[in-house]
Amino acid sequence: MQFSPLQSRLVASLVASCLPLLLYLTLFSPNFALAAELEQAFPAVFDHVDLLAGTAERGAVGPTYEPEFSAFDRSIIGRAPEGVTSLTNNEAMPMNVDVGTTQRFVFSLPAVSGREVEEARLELRAEQNTSGERNAGAGAGAGENETEGHDVVKRQAPRRVYISANTCEQPQPIDPSKTTSDPPQLTLYVSTSAENYADPASQTLVEFKEGAVMFNLTTDQDVYIGIHAPNITDAFSGIYNFRVAASTDRFYFSYDEKDDADLIWVDSDSQGALLMTHNLTDKADPVEQARIMSTQPYVLFAHNKKDRGINGIKYSFCGLEAHALIAATKNGRQVDLVKTGMTQRGPGNFPKQQFFFSGLNSSSEYIGILARDGEAPGEKRQAALGGGRQIYRATSFSTKSDHGNCALVVDLPFCDQIAYSVPSNPYFGNSAQLAQFYDNYASEMYANFNKSLSQVACEAPPSQRYSLARDCADCAAAYKDWLCLVTIPRCEDFSANATWLQARAISQPFPDGEVLGEAELAGLQNTTRYNSSRNPLIDAFVRPGPYKELLPCDSLCYSLVQSCPAQMGFGCPLPGEVGFEGNYVKHTFGGGLNCNYPGSAHFRSWGGRGTVVDWRVLVLVLGAVVGSVSRM
Ligand SMILES: *[C@@H]1O[C@H](CO)[C@@H](O)[C@H](O)[C@H]1NC(C)=O
Ligand SMILES: *[C@@H]1O[C@H](CO)[C@@H](O)[C@H](O)[C@H]1NC(C)=O
Ligand SMILES: *[C@@H]1O[C@H](CO)[C@@H](O)[C@H](O)[C@H]1NC(C)=O
Ligand SMILES: *[C@@H]1O[C@H](CO)[C@@H](O)[C@H](O)[C@H]1NC(C)=O
Ligand SMILES: *[C@@H]1O[C@H](CO)[C@@H](O)[C@H](O)[C@H]1NC(C)=O
Ligand SMILES: *[C@@H]1O[C@H](CO)[C@@H](O)[C@H](O)[C@H]1NC(C)=O
Ligand SMILES: *[C@@H]1O[C@H](CO)[C@@H](O)[C@H](O)[C@H]1NC(C)=O
Ligand SMILES: *[C@@H]1O[C@H](CO)[C@@H](O)[C@H](O)[C@H]1NC(C)=O
Ligand SMILES: *[C@@H]1O[C@H](CO)[C@@H](O)[C@H](O)[C@H]1NC(C)=O
Ligand SMILES: *[C@@H]1O[C@H](CO)[C@@H](O)[C@H](O)[C@H]1NC(C)=O
Repeated sequence: MQFSPLQSRLVASLVASCLPLLLYLTLFSPNFALAAELEQAFPAVFDHVDLLAGTAERGAVGPTYEPEFSAFDRSIIGRAPEGVTSLTNNEAMPMNVDVGTTQRFVFSLPAVSGREVEEARLELRAEQNTSGERNAGAGAGAGENETEGHDVVKRQAPRRVYISANTCEQPQPIDPSKTTSDPPQLTLYVSTSAENYADPASQTLVEFKEGAVMFNLTTDQDVYIGIHAPNITDAFSGIYNFRVAASTDRFYFSYDEKDDADLIWVDSDSQGALLMTHNLTDKADPVEQARIMSTQPYVLFAHNKKDRGINGIKYSFCGLEAHALIAATKNGRQVDLVKTGMTQRGPGNFPKQQFFFSGLNSSSEYIGILARDGEAPGEKRQAALGGGRQIYRATSFSTKSDHGNCALVVDLPFCDQIAYSVPSNPYFGNSAQLAQFYDNYASEMYANFNKSLSQVACEAPPSQRYSLARDCADCAAAYKDWLCLVTIPRCEDFSANATWLQARAISQPFPDGEVLGEAELAGLQNTTRYNSSRNPLIDAFVRPGPYKELLPCDSLCYSLVQSCPAQMGFGCPLPGEVGFEGNYVKHTFGGGLNCNYPGSAHFRSWGGRGTVVDWRVLVLVLGAVVGSVSRM
């Protein structure tokens, strides 16, 4: 075969280029071979993040220690050693545990990002080369910056690990009528040593409280977790079920014992109750307020205090969801008994979430437990950041007696700040009709006042106005607050005995026909303010029978007088003026709610706090407009 001159030159140059390569290979090939061997020796190992923690642990334990849950084994087979379950950051793990046994878990510190996983591999190779040196660098981990090596140090620096768990199921009494104790609580064991289970001394032990546990520690190693179910007596049978979660962000399950009650009991009647949260923001920003009004951040559990069903699991979300009489959650129980929604009622008009119960038993004590469900569909992101399920402090509330002559009304069109129990009668109609009766009356009265106000120089320039500080809008608002609270009495059971309550309509029969005896009447029938309601229309149409009224606060009257033009003739008399006792109560702070004002919440009328009350009453002196109301 003949080459053309061009082809020959190509062959010659090819041969010339290959020769040095061949020479190079002959001289240096052992290095290549070594590198190849190294790369292939640990292929599976390099893919696993747990490796670093595993090798660190080996270092700590020493060369002779070969634990069966070595991270090496785990990474190759891809799961935790037998009997030990791996926990994933911010994911709850459900598990049964038989009495007298322990369930075991291991939590490995997660890498923060994919890049760090990569760096973890590099670090490992470095470690294969020089075993001792690396630890020196790990100590100086505080001021790291964005360089590669430093990032690895950051990952290995000690981190805080939050461990939390909830008891969902616990053994139940075999004979509930005889058993007065509650089943014992689970116990959490935590250790950073793989020898955890062999050496109790190296473990931290925390007993669950009301079905929940929270524990945090700072570590750069794997965390070994045990959850132990105690032996139980013959009085109980069944097993425990719990959910456990570990997080590097915050507690996945939490409960709160310290804060003030997070849920406010506004008022109740014989079958229902109204509860609400605190202001969910204190920002006046309308955009922020609108955003909050479009959410419903909380869920609620409620339970009859007489029932032992939630004893021992009051801090556990899943326990309450399964056992509370009423669980206002996604998959809850008796959800039809509670309606929730947002409201801006009350001072400041800030957004709050309210819960309106119906179908409760009369004269019963309940607890309401506010909670937040980070696992709800709308809140998945929360859970991913460690914000799983939170339980807040419980609030006690109770329902009124079964005389049924006080009924809750809310969402009145005109008196929109009113949300409390009013004198009622089951035969009058439902709660909407009752609300309409009171609201119509108030808005008619307001129309009269509105006419008077229009005769006052409201639109005049400031120099001619009745006040520089107040204008007609202030007067109208103060009048409306006062009018709604005076025309719509706040009702309490007749049996409530707080001294500041005013008994009303004592000669009339209760809706069920019962009448008060001579002893209870105590000769008070001849005093108008005891014998009748303030508004005769209530006695004529609603006919509630004997009830007690939580009187309006005197401050409402002061506010009215200060806000409105003097020519309108409003005035508040001094305490003790004859004939008008029973119209107002002086507002005393602390010791519960002793008078009614817009947005006020409930007080315990049977609390026996009568001694703190200043029993001076303030009365409204009749004015042109006020007179027509006072004659009610
Ligand atoms: C291995 O160690 C030697 C000497 O300590 C060093 O020169 C070399 O760069 C190291 N190799 C790697 C891959 O870090
Ligand atoms: C890390 O970088 C920040 C700015 O990115 C700098 O302020 C800080 O001093 C650096 N820390 C160290 C230890 O270099
Ligand atoms: C972490 O635990 C310590 C003591 O164990 C405790 O004082 C601290 O409040 C805990 N931190 C949190 C966030 O609960
Ligand atoms: C629990 O019960 C088992 C068997 O019923 C028994 O072996 C064990 O000693 C008991 N543990 C305790 C702490 O009583
Ligand atoms: C809401 O904020 C207002 C104004 O600060 C305050 O008067 C009111 O008591 C708060 N309401 C609740 C329920 O916390
Ligand atoms: C009402 O009382 C009955 C009988 O005591 C009880 O079974 C029921 O659970 C109670 N319901 C509520 C909502 O408290
Ligand atoms: C009060 O009267 C004014 C006109 O004088 C009217 O615009 C306003 O709607 C009235 N308000 C009510 C609640 O009737
Ligand atoms: C109530 O008034 C009636 C007649 O007006 C009188 O006979 C009666 O004694 C009075 N009762 C009391 C307790 O004052
Ligand atoms: C008290 O009220 C009853 C029922 O409304 C009425 O019949 C009676 O006359 C009243 N008594 C007095 C003294 O007003
Ligand atoms: C109020 O009534 C309760 C029972 O309903 C009772 O225990 C308490 O002693 C009473 N207080 C007063 C001051 O009468």
